[in-house]
Amino acid sequence: MIRVLVTGANGQLGSCIKQQSLEHPDIVFHFLGSNELNITDPENLRTVFSKPFDYCINCAAYTQVDNAESNSRLAHSINENGVKELAKLCHKHNVVLIHISTDFVFDGKKRSAYTETDHTNPLGVYGLSKLKGEQAIERLMTQYFILRTSWLYSEHGNNFVKTMLRLAKERDSISVVNDQFGSPTYAMDLAKTIVKLVSSKSDAYGLYHYSNHGQISWFDFASKVFEFKGISISLKPIKTADFPTLAKRPKFSVLDTTKIQENIKAEINDWEESLQLALTNMYGS
Ligand SMILES: NC(=O)c1ccc[n+]([C@@H]2O[C@H](COP(=O)([O-])OP(=O)(O)OC[C@H]3O[C@@H](n4cnc5c(N)ncnc54)[C@H](OP(=O)(O)O)[C@@H]3O)[C@@H](O)[C@H]2O)c1
Repeated sequence: MIRVLVTGANGQLGSCIKQQSLEHPDIVFHFLGSNELNITDPENLRTVFSKPFDYCINCAAYTQVDNAESNSRLAHSINENGVKELAKLCHKHNVVLIHISTDFVFDGKKRSAYTETDHTNPLGVYGLSKLKGEQAIERLMTQYFILRTSWLYSEHGNNFVKTMLRLAKERDSISVVNDQFGSPTYAMDLAKTIVKLVSSKSDAYGLYHYSNHGQISWFDFASKVFEFKGISISLKPIKTADFPTLAKRPKFSVLDTTKIQENIKAEINDWEESLQLALTNMYGS
């Protein structure tokens, strides 16, 4: 029997893992939301870790990229210090930590897919706090998987796909940036991969990149959402400079997934196929 603790269980990815867990009655999952486990509270963490676990899947994070710029302390306390405490306890109790990180650890200056060995240089507080979390794990323990992912969306939580569909109801015209390139990732695909990783008991520990396949702009992403949903709307491509945000974002953050495909046999779906499936799961065919 494999015992798994899932933190941040009510967020987007946590909810997808909850859904995937139904397919694995052989694994005993303990899902704790932020109200049951605050990863910045050492006492709370110690109490939870007094029970035995084989894996901890950390879905807890401060994910508000723009707000992080003015809430640096909070972002670091969750994404850096909270993760550090979690890593210490996982190491002490011999628990394998599966942690999720982000493409925002990169500055976007590269023009081909980022590999795990590429130089990091986050442009904002969120990316920096996530990078510090990764580094704490790498420093404190060996039995970990860090999965960097990008542009997550799903039927759960807030995300770009849901925002586009909401805006289409409210407006006649939408402007979306067409000079930031990356790969969307259906959070349900990532959740499946994580649960498979647990069930395989793989010991190919380390840092990995995981996203759906494809290289597109946010404009391309929005276009495809509306095309698949049969929504006719005036969609205008704009430059990042015309849509100023508090946090700077990488212009290019496509992740090379070769390592996770080879070492963990992860299946990587094409972004369009996953988007179509997600929209069907969200709204029916
Ligand atoms: N979303 C993306 O596009 C994206 C892209 C790349 C990487 N990622 C990474 O993927 C992971 C999952 O993201 P997501 O989209 O599922 O984010 P999410 O929906 O914002 O979920 C994060 C969860 O963490 C919880 N949380 C916040 N502070 C906490 C604390 N101190 N202790 C315990 N739980 C806490 C939140 O609970 P409350 O809501 O109650 O605060 C929320 O349920 C994160 O590590 C994120 O950095 C996300």
